Amino acid sequence: MIDLGLTGKRAIVAGAGHRPPRPGIGRQTALLLAEGGARVACVDLDEARAAATAAEVTAAGGEAIVVTGDLRRADEADRIVAEVVAAFGGLDICIDIIGEATWGITPDFTEDAWDWAVETNLKQVFLLFQSAGRQMRTQGTGGALAAVASVDGIMGSPVHVAYGCAKAGVVHLVKTLSEELGPYGIRANAVAPGAVFVPTEEHPEPGPGVHAATPLRQPQALDIARGLVFFCSDLAWAVSGQTLPVDGGASVKGVWDFPPAQIETLLKL
Ligand SMILES: NC(=O)c1ccc[n+]([C@@H]2O[C@H](COP(=O)([O-])OP(=O)(O)OC[C@H]3O[C@@H](n4cnc5c(N)ncnc54)[C@H](O)[C@@H]3O)[C@@H](O)[C@H]2O)c1
Repeated sequence: MIDLGLTGKRAIVAGAGHRPPRPGIGRQTALLLAEGGARVACVDLDEARAAATAAEVTAAGGEAIVVTGDLRRADEADRIVAEVVAAFGGLDICIDIIGEATWGITPDFTEDAWDWAVETNLKQVFLLFQSAGRQMRTQGTGGALAAVASVDGIMGSPVHVAYGCAKAGVVHLVKTLSEELGPYGIRANAVAPGAVFVPTEEHPEPGPGVHAATPLRQPQALDIARGLVFFCSDLAWAVSGQTLPVDGGASVKGVWDFPPAQIETLLKL
């Protein structure tokens, strides 16, 4: 049996609530961390959603508490971290899954939409990791920070420019935190999901043909959670500053995009 080193670890999952039809990455992450033996603080703007995830963790035999607040504010981030530390006696893991795209073509993108996207996708991660990082540095027992970025922060992001720029900021943030906090045994990493599959009546399973841009199959919320939990486990003790695409191979596709008829012709050359 592999020891993930998660037993008894004190963890925050920010954005732990699930609001269907969105994927529920925070919910899956909280459940998986607890399955690995961590004690989980389910943090969310919405108390009922956080409580629903905490109840699932508890029903599965894990330990969870609920902490509510808006992580776009520095004082709230500090208060949330302080509440978790008061409840658990410290903090070892901090995962932030919060983020959302706003849509629009760059020349027509409004300043308000830009500000909202950068605050929601980048500033709140900075504020939470700043506060969690301070706590872990003071504690002196190391720690792991992990955020949800996006392949849009690695590739171009047509039709949601601010989201892509903000997610690129998350990819950069974990590099800087890795160097600044590494001497304290604190690691920082990110998972970059591709288009996340959510089951519907028409398509209950991800598979070839459901999303043409994904060669393997689309990831689901649990696949993203697995990447995040890996980064916070002892399996990744020597990994920091990295962003792992979990995208079914979508972001490394070649540029040729040959139609099948052209492949037949090329194979005859
Ligand atoms: N869906 C996709 O295809 C896709 C692709 C790439 C990346 N992502 C990323 O996945 C993440 C979202 O995952 P999801 O859709 O499962 O979650 P979600 O958007 O449903 O959010 C989960 C919870 O976060 C809470 N939340 C939002 N803002 C908050 C704040 N300021 N403070 C505290 N709590 C807050 C919400 O109340 C919600 O319950 C984002 O980072 C997004 O960029 C998604």
